[in-house]
Amino acid sequence: MKMEDIQERALQLRTLLLRYQHSYYVTGKAEVSDLEYDRLFDELSSIEEKYPELKTPDSPTQRVGSDLTSDFPEVQHSIPVLSLDKAYSAQEVLSFMERCTKNASSEKLSFVLEEKIDGFSIVLYYRDGVLERAVTRGNGYVGNDVTANVKTIQAVPLRLTKPETLAVRGEVFLPKEDFERINLALDEPYANPRNLAAGTIRRIKSSDTARVPLSVFCYEGFWENSTPFYDHLHILRELKDLGFKVDSHLSCFCRTREEAEEKLRDAGLEGFAGSFEDLAEDIKKRSSDRPHLPYEIDGLVLKVNEIGQRELMGWTEHHPKWAMAYKFEAPQAEAIVQDIDVQVGRTGRITPMARISATELSGSVIRNITLHNQDYVDELELAIGDTVSISKRGDVIPAVENVTEKNSRGNTTWQMPSLCPVCSSPLIRKGAHHFCSNPSCPAREKGRLEFFCAKKQMDIEGLGSKTIELLYDRGYIKTIQDIFTFNWTSLIDREEGFGLKKTEAIEKAVKEAVKAPFRRVLVSLGIPEFGKKAVDLVVENGFDSMDRLLNEATVEKLSAIGGIGPVTAKYIVDSLHEEETLNLISDLRLFGLNMSEKEKEENTEDQIFAGQSWCVTGTFEHFKPRDKAMEEIKKRGGTEVSSVSSKTSCLLAGENAGSKLQKAISLGVKVVSEEEFLKMTGLFRKEESTGGESQPDLFG
Ligand code: IVH
Repeated sequence: MKMEDIQERALQLRTLLLRYQHSYYVTGKAEVSDLEYDRLFDELSSIEEKYPELKTPDSPTQRVGSDLTSDFPEVQHSIPVLSLDKAYSAQEVLSFMERCTKNASSEKLSFVLEEKIDGFSIVLYYRDGVLERAVTRGNGYVGNDVTANVKTIQAVPLRLTKPETLAVRGEVFLPKEDFERINLALDEPYANPRNLAAGTIRRIKSSDTARVPLSVFCYEGFWENSTPFYDHLHILRELKDLGFKVDSHLSCFCRTREEAEEKLRDAGLEGFAGSFEDLAEDIKKRSSDRPHLPYEIDGLVLKVNEIGQRELMGWTEHHPKWAMAYKFEAPQAEAIVQDIDVQVGRTGRITPMARISATELSGSVIRNITLHNQDYVDELELAIGDTVSISKRGDVIPAVENVTEKNSRGNTTWQMPSLCPVCSSPLIRKGAHHFCSNPSCPAREKGRLEFFCAKKQMDIEGLGSKTIELLYDRGYIKTIQDIFTFNWTSLIDREEGFGLKKTEAIEKAVKEAVKAPFRRVLVSLGIPEFGKKAVDLVVENGFDSMDRLLNEATVEKLSAIGGIGPVTAKYIVDSLHEEETLNLISDLRLFGLNMSEKEKEENTEDQIFAGQSWCVTGTFEHFKPRDKAMEEIKKRGGTEVSSVSSKTSCLLAGENAGSKLQKAISLGVKVVSEEEFLKMTGLFRKEESTGGESQPDLFG
């Protein structure tokens, strides 16, 4: 074949495949069979492989993504990518419409109501009809270039049907069904489709993005010089004609229904047509239709239809004055991020923390919120000064849900420092996290001590974080071993606040700690990924002594245990054999700590909960921390689940039980109170002398 013929064939294949992709992913109607599509695709791929010079940026083969890693350089937007003014009641939206109509007396105004897609905002830049760049919203002026990843989204046209130069705003989203399926298979599930979509757009390898069936709805177009259309409906029509996926659930409102019908007809669009008086009813209807949609929406957007009028109304720094978002749910709370700094954990892991103005949320005042790692911050595109909506995940841990208003100081997305804030050693990145490279970083040493002594581990009373910090800074204790060798009474007269009573109490607590069960000793070692859950699994699967663990546990054997993945298994095995850990274990053995499971002690109880799964929530009078209640359940044959589902046998609910209690009630799961639990387990002893009043008889 002559070169011109090959070139011609490549063009032909590209055009055909782009058309088939568009009909399948945008209009939802397949034009050819999968087999035929794959045949044409393979033919084009092999031509491009042989003649790379024939590869074009709009080739359908570019959608499969690449294994090359890419970062996301910051780029300047050529349009201001602003947000929307928002309302939380339909009444506010109606008032907005009234205000607009009053102020625009000389012109007949109309409005378009669209769905507010709950996804990830994106701007697609096209030059002469070819996708040149896809950029995240960022701070509205500067965003991240995520072109390679966005190209893998089939609903994003790589080439338009006309050689137009324009910027298009849209929302990348993941359909609910795909979210449920994908999320189930993830080790660390996402809270909602929006977060999964945002995480996917920021995958380092575009081949990873390609595996997630993201889609996009486009809702605004900005042409290079001025918009060549009279109204928004015609812009939407044009976007459709150019090959974009446009949400078909739209409504048009005019003074009369007939005028609205005429406008929709004129633009060649389908939708609901109504008079201004119909807006309230339509908002109501759309709110009740919301659960039946195949994708998530978090509200509706009412927009002035006439472009000339939009230009007259203009913009604030934050939003256009010609549109208003109606949000279905008011955020639980909003706060301004005053600062972001980092904390150094006991493993050296660096955790960014958002410092917010004191904000009340479900009964507590929140000042600090963890941001986990740089990827998390990037997904939110969070900068200092931004306003954020915050929630309490699982009713306990406060989390930043999303940025509701960008800062007006021009701050761009927060970046991790390059040095440890405590010891100034360089930070190194492993996976999603950054770590301090210095094993003797004071923050790490203090963190290890704190973790070891904390309630959930050795539970050494009197050695809380503040005391540890003071004793470490004064040079009394540095390592875990020091806790067992230090002469506590020597602090009397040397340190204020350390009298005989306090030091003797610490001494007693240290002696008690020596008796802690083997599983707690294992958790207290502070091995990453080897927390209570993993320890239970490992011990229950035969590794019930330190010697067995050290001599017999391999990555293969541990990862064969259901619930322990290969990454966790490797962490455990590697960390157990680190010199520092081996020294610690051998010293703890010398101090007399339990190095094996004492079966007699654990299993003397009747197995009344055998075969039952229990979830524990809330706070308890007799079980502090509440893990102690779970220990009692397990002693009696029950298993632990961390969330309530229809399969859960019982929920043990203490004071202030939140969403888990509600869920259990709605699913008909048996709810057990602390008092009932004490009776069921026999931990409650009747005191005859008090005339039948009951007294708990707990823990020996
Ligand atoms: S219009 C100037 N229309 O909501 C145009 N935005 O909370 C402003 N969004 O940043 C946006 N669906 O990411 C518009 N139908 C829709 C939308 C929509 C979702 C997002 C968009 C925006 C955010 C504001």
